[in-house]
Amino acid sequence: MSTMMKKYCLLVILAAVLGTSCHRSVTVTNLNIIPEPVFQVQKEGSYTLKDNPAISMVNLGQNSSTARYIMKSLRHAHLRPTLVSSTENNDIELILNDTVNSELGDEGYLLEVRSTGIRMSANTETGLFYAYQTFIQMLPTDVVKTSYHAITLPECTILDYPRFSWRGAHLDVCRHFFPIKFVKKYIDVMAMYKLNKFHFHLTDDHGWRLPSEKYPRLNTVGSWRVDRDDQPWGQAEPAQEGERTTYGGFYSREELVDLVQYAANRGIEIIPEIEMPGHTCALLASYPQLSCDGQPCEIPIGPYWPPKDIVCAGNDSTLIVFKDLLDEMLEIFPSKYIHIGGDEAVWDKWKQCPRCQRRIRTEHLRDEAELQGWFMRQIEDHLASRGRTVIGWDEVDDGSLSSNAVVMAWRGVQNGMTAARDGSKVIMCPTSHCYLDYYQADSRYQPASIGGLITLSKAYEFDPVPMGTNSHIAANILGGQCNLWTEYINTPSHAEYMLLPRMLAISEKLWSQQEATDWNHFRRKVEDHKNRLSAKGYNYCEGSFTPQFKVRKIDDHTMNVAIETEVPNTYIFYTTDMSTPTRQSAIYLGPINLERGTHIKILPVYNDIERDSIYEYVIK
Ligand code: ACM
Ligand code: ZN
Repeated sequence: MSTMMKKYCLLVILAAVLGTSCHRSVTVTNLNIIPEPVFQVQKEGSYTLKDNPAISMVNLGQNSSTARYIMKSLRHAHLRPTLVSSTENNDIELILNDTVNSELGDEGYLLEVRSTGIRMSANTETGLFYAYQTFIQMLPTDVVKTSYHAITLPECTILDYPRFSWRGAHLDVCRHFFPIKFVKKYIDVMAMYKLNKFHFHLTDDHGWRLPSEKYPRLNTVGSWRVDRDDQPWGQAEPAQEGERTTYGGFYSREELVDLVQYAANRGIEIIPEIEMPGHTCALLASYPQLSCDGQPCEIPIGPYWPPKDIVCAGNDSTLIVFKDLLDEMLEIFPSKYIHIGGDEAVWDKWKQCPRCQRRIRTEHLRDEAELQGWFMRQIEDHLASRGRTVIGWDEVDDGSLSSNAVVMAWRGVQNGMTAARDGSKVIMCPTSHCYLDYYQADSRYQPASIGGLITLSKAYEFDPVPMGTNSHIAANILGGQCNLWTEYINTPSHAEYMLLPRMLAISEKLWSQQEATDWNHFRRKVEDHKNRLSAKGYNYCEGSFTPQFKVRKIDDHTMNVAIETEVPNTYIFYTTDMSTPTRQSAIYLGPINLERGTHIKILPVYNDIERDSIYEYVIK
């Protein structure tokens, strides 16, 4: 074939491929909605959605944020929607109910795919937003990358509403700083999974990320540290005397105001946090006069434990500064709740400080614990005078705050149960299930993390109100959240890797009814969602496929080895002769006897796809 001819053939082939990719049609048979809806029934018939759907809106203004979000998102999914005024002959109908459907509440919705079209209705815009999130999950996983000229959906009815009102995710932007663009991407993925509270951890020892006009050194000094970002956390060279501080940053007021609106358009409230009285090194580096000894602290570039820097509670200026900073923050964040930290304070400096000791005497306090309680109460009263309610980490549950304060239980579910029993409202985020900075699989196969182990199945065991909880306690538990601390996470991609897919497990446990959650069903859905997330440019972890071993001694030389992954129906291919396993290698069918010292290499295969890496172990 001549070169010209070859080029011609190539063009024809290319045109054919492109042509088909632009005119694909698809039939969706399985619905894989996360979080699992309350009620979902699939019927025999179907409805075919064309790529130019007609949309009608009832009681929903075209300029409402939800309508605009939906139109934009449909275009992003390669559809060309047109708004029509008629409520007949439309493909998609969005209805804000005239009469409240009490079953749906403020966040619930009804979604029906009928032979005549798709209908979403809710009492509120938030409910419609969630109906739309469910609808978009019915479309093919690659819909944001591929244009389909027709998508056939099964006829179905979904009626849905959340189990908990607090469905949160937290992000620490202090240990490492993340650009606002990533924070929006984080909010986007929260919205996909119907999470509604973004806990924004904005100040800590390692950096101050809020803008301040009144206290500018927080941004010129407190937002920056010596750059060791190219070195592993905990193994960085110490800072040199006088070395410039070039790592960090802070958000501008405009960025944050825009972010608040961005989140609100997605049904998400941002709860900002200013930490106190500990975890304040960045503040004290900026204003050393607020410490007990007046000595400046240096913003740490790695692990900082115990976090001994603390603001002086005997100095009136300290309270004035915090109140000023909170007031500046309130102008940006309209949330009902404001988080004021309160965790892990180390009181050694207070014990040595004449002013702190004087405060203990003048306020008739017993000790430093009561001094912290007194300090937090001053802040709570200030915020209450501004119409806001405080949240604190569970250390604040010492009786000093008012009964309005919300306790965020992180050290264990039991702490939350106790606070709820005593009448406080509680948000559950125990380290046992919700700390997504912990390893998610065997640490030998994972990037360095802070420690711990929360596999996807462990995260899925989370339940803010376990079965059998006394109803008086249950009534005080608002819900829960996952937390992402970023000591060991310094890029957006790594943050996504730690978050996903575990955030999906937390989301299902916060939204879905207890009896509707099922690990095997959830795990199957996760595979579909990984494709969906990937198409949207998110990174995620395949740690669920990491083999787990149970080894039992047979005799001095032989061990009985059981291997499994947490994913049902994973095929495990293995070798014991040091060769690389392939799908032609032995397949694991049940426990095997192996000599001590044997190298076993494993290839997990699921849904016909080879997962992640080859895993290698020596039998001991
Ligand atoms: C925390 O993890 N120190 C709240
Ligand atoms: Zn002091």
